This record gives sequence, structure tokens and C-alpha cells, in this order.
Amino acid sequence: MTTPTTPHNDEWWRSAVIYQVYPRSFGDANGDGIGDLPGITARMEQIARLGVDAVWLSPFYKSSHKDGGYDVSDFCDVDPIHGTLADFDALAAEVKRVGLKLIVDIVPNHSSTEHVWFQEALAAGPGSAERARYIFRDGKGDNGELPPNNWLSVFGGPAWTRVIGPDGAPEQWYMNIFDSSQPDFDWTNEWVQEQFDDILRFWLDRGVDGFRVDVAAGLAKKAGLPDWTDGVDDPADHPFFGDPGSHEYWRRWRAITDSYPGERILCAEAGVDPLSKLALWVRPDEMHQAFNFPYAGVKWDPKGIRAIIDESLEAFGSVGAPSTWVQSNHDQVRHTTRLAMNDDETRTGDLSGLGPRSTNVPDLALSIRRGRASTALMLGLPGSAYLYQGEELGLPEVHEIPDSFRQDPTFFRTAGERYGRDGCRVPIPWKADAPAYGFNTTGESWLPQPSVFRELAYDQQDGVSGSTLEMYRAALRLRHEHNLGHGSLTWIDGLPDHIVGYENNGVRSYTNYGTEPFEIPAGRVILDSGYGIHATAADSHDSAEYGDGILLPDETVWVV
Ligand code: GLC
Ligand code: CA
Repeated sequence: MTTPTTPHNDEWWRSAVIYQVYPRSFGDANGDGIGDLPGITARMEQIARLGVDAVWLSPFYKSSHKDGGYDVSDFCDVDPIHGTLADFDALAAEVKRVGLKLIVDIVPNHSSTEHVWFQEALAAGPGSAERARYIFRDGKGDNGELPPNNWLSVFGGPAWTRVIGPDGAPEQWYMNIFDSSQPDFDWTNEWVQEQFDDILRFWLDRGVDGFRVDVAAGLAKKAGLPDWTDGVDDPADHPFFGDPGSHEYWRRWRAITDSYPGERILCAEAGVDPLSKLALWVRPDEMHQAFNFPYAGVKWDPKGIRAIIDESLEAFGSVGAPSTWVQSNHDQVRHTTRLAMNDDETRTGDLSGLGPRSTNVPDLALSIRRGRASTALMLGLPGSAYLYQGEELGLPEVHEIPDSFRQDPTFFRTAGERYGRDGCRVPIPWKADAPAYGFNTTGESWLPQPSVFRELAYDQQDGVSGSTLEMYRAALRLRHEHNLGHGSLTWIDGLPDHIVGYENNGVRSYTNYGTEPFEIPAGRVILDSGYGIHATAADSHDSAEYGDGILLPDETVWVV
């Protein structure tokens, strides 16, 4: 017996699975090697067939393209590289037609230096109202030659850039907690707040169902901009991530989204630790969701996963919010690869990435096994979840990208010491035997695709029993049928330490984190993350689907 699903519109976001599209890399309709909106529209049905509830589009706005579109030069227009506003409207209509919801990115912490607001600020000079939109300060030292404080950019190097005046003379500095092409707004300025009210309304009026809010923990800076040193000063006191000053901005935004019909949502991209603090972002009058990045950071470790799930349910539950599970996105080493790495290099959040000189690239087969097992575990949990394009194909992090193709500012700002995030942004393989693996018809690709994309291409997995794609589809279908997103979790006691088992709405999920097989307790197996990927003849799954009653290492099963 399955429980009937709740109506789709009733706080749909509490249980929704949301699929992230990174527009540069999803589909390229005009063949110039860069993904575009028509290329996404043309593949919307494939997204719907996966069984997700909504699509989130990373930025497609006018941009100087120094940070993959997160350096926006017009918040209310489409970059010509990606298409036009009419293309956006066509995409939005297609999203509706296939029965999904649409979330767009919004980037309120900074603009591009090419934005007219910043250009006006430069021209207007020190002390002007235009400069007050951003964080301009005089430098320290006798001639202002030192940055106003010691803060470091997330991408490496100082968080300040000195302005060179039209006469060639250096003058004030502006703050950039990311790239120097991304000046930070001064959110204490009411003018800035009003501009963003209008930007929200612009997209809400065009029918979007919500926003993924970039750098949602960074808008408020610590008063007085005091020096701060990572590794020395208290992380809880970080001067530009997690300052409580941001909360009033989210209440203001929530009032706007609530004024629209339907459930329009806000999802925080907030690098805030611990979860009990992150939960403050999703109090009832603030955002609806916040990415659970501590969950994404957990290694292949049964203790660690149990602890983070408990902590998440407790923290988000205490404010009445769902947990928003996530494993991969456009900023992290893909979780397939990450979960098969065992050393301390398995960092998330520091944008290190992998490259040709990395010595810790794990085995692909193990990566895929663990990636699938971990996804099956995640999709059985109550709450909402985000998937990142390509994970349903089992794509690994691409480490082969030569230095000459690298685009991520992290790579340049650390003189190549950190590879950055290009390896998770490589264009998606759709067809094994087509140019650029079906990303377009010309064979152009802004990042080179590795040869392993051939066997992992969509057309090699679509309809193929046991493929990663079919496992994702099955998990999503069962998740809906059993209403797991609205369920509640109970740990199954009495299991060996290396087995993580929980029950949700009558479905029992078991994951094997050890090296020994485990005999699955009585019941009918309805999902098996290992089915179809076993390399050894010892496996008998191939003949009788899910039939042998054994849970091998690095696998998850669901049992009813
Ligand atoms: C967020 C985005 C990331 C971007 C940064 C600056 O972390 O996810 O891609 O580089 O913000 O906008
Ligand atoms: Ca294109």
C-alpha cells in the first residue's frame, strides 16, 4: 500500500526535488559551444521525465562572464550568449507545459564592475551617492596604498581592489569578497534594497516560482569592517558570512514573495555553520529553504551521515522548516568523485577542485557505486532535495581539463594552486556518437569533455534497466508514491555499525558503508542502487532484478 501524495501546490517546496541547470553547460542550440536558453527549452521534457518537481536555473543574466555568470551586469535581462527575454518566456512556458516549477538565481551581494550602477559610482567619485551603492573606502598607509582591512576574497587574494582614476592616479578601494570583477553592494543603503525589490518583482511578474539566493549569508558586513584572520579569530564571528544583519533583508523579500499568488519561494545559498545557526535563515518569516551544505560535506562515513541527518532534522525542525538535502552543485567536486576520495583533500566549500596534477583522483567504478548509493539514501529522506545536472548520469568530476581551458577565477587568483570549479561544469553528454556528445551539433564546447562521457551519455542510459539514469527515475517515482518527502525518519536499531538503516513512511532504506556483504532483512526490495553496475560475476542481480537478498558494500536498497 502506498500513501497518496499531497496536492502539488500545498507548500510544494517542503518535499520538492529541484533540478539545477547550469545554463552554460546544459544544451547549446546555436552551436557556439556555450549553452543557451533554447538549448534548455529543447531538453525540458527530459528533465520532467526524470521525475523532479522543479528546475532551478543558475544565472543567465547579462554578465561580464568572469565568474560563470555570477558577475551580473543587468539583473533584468538575458545575456546575448544565452538568448533573449523572449527565449526566457518560451522556456518558462515549456516548464509549465511539462508540469514543473521554475526557480531562478538572484545575485544580491554584488554586481559586475560592468554594471551601469558601478560605472556611475566610479565616475561620480568619492563621497557621492553613487559610490554609496557599493563599499568604497580610503586605503590605509601614508598614501592609501594598503587595503582598508585584511579580509581575503573567497577566490583568493585580498577582498579589496584599488580604483585607478581616469588620470591614472590610484584612489579609493572597493570591497570584493569574490572576484575583483564583483564589487559588493552596501546593503545598509535603502537605495540598494529598493533596486532588489524591483528585480524580484520583475521576475515574479514573469511567472517564476521562486529564487535561489546567491551568497545569502554575505550581504551584511560586520559593523566597522574590522580586521579578521581565518584560523586565528572565532569562525562564529566571521565578518562577512553569517552576520545577523541580513535577516531584515530576507523578511523584506519574504513579504514580497508572499504578496504573489501561489507558493513563491526563497532558497538560501548560505555558507553558515553550524546548522542551528543556518536554521535562522529559514524561520517562518524569512526564507523557505536553505541548502544543507554540511550534509553535502559529509564523507563516506556511517557515523558522520547519521549524525548530520539527526542534526539537520533537529535544527530545521526547530523552526518548522524542511531540510534541503544536496550533494552536488556547480561549486563543488561532484559527489560521485568526492565520496570515493578518502584523504583529507576531500574538501568541499573551498573551491579547490581537481586537475591534471591531482594525485588523488579516485576510481570511477567506486565513484559511481558510492554516488548512487548515497543518492538513494538521500532521496529516501523527508524534506526537499536538490539535484545537479549530470549527476543522474553518474558523471564524475572532470580532472583532465588542461590549464589553458580553465575559466574559474579561483584558478587565476591562486596562480593555479587551486584548480577551482571547472571540473563540475563540463557540458552534459546527451548522445554517445554525436559531436560534443550531443551538447550541440557543431562539436564546439567551452570546456573539453572527457572520453568517459561517451559511455555515460544520456542515450546510453535512457530506458536501460540498471543504468544510473533509471535508478534516479525509479527513486524519484518511489519517493512520490510513498510520499517520502512528507514523511518522518526513524533509525532502524540493531544493525552492524557499517550499515545505516532508517524507515520513512513504511519504506526501509539500508546503506552498506563497510567492506562485508549484509543480508537484507525480510521484505521486498523496491530499489537497489547497485543493480546494473556490478563488475564481478559474483553478482546475481542481473538475472533476477533485486533478487538475491544481499546488500553489497557501497550500495543502498529500499525495502517494503
Ligand atoms: C555563489 C555561487 C558561486 C559564485 C559565488 C559568487 O557561491 O554559487 O558560483 O561564484 O556565489 O557569486
Ligand atoms: Ca549557444
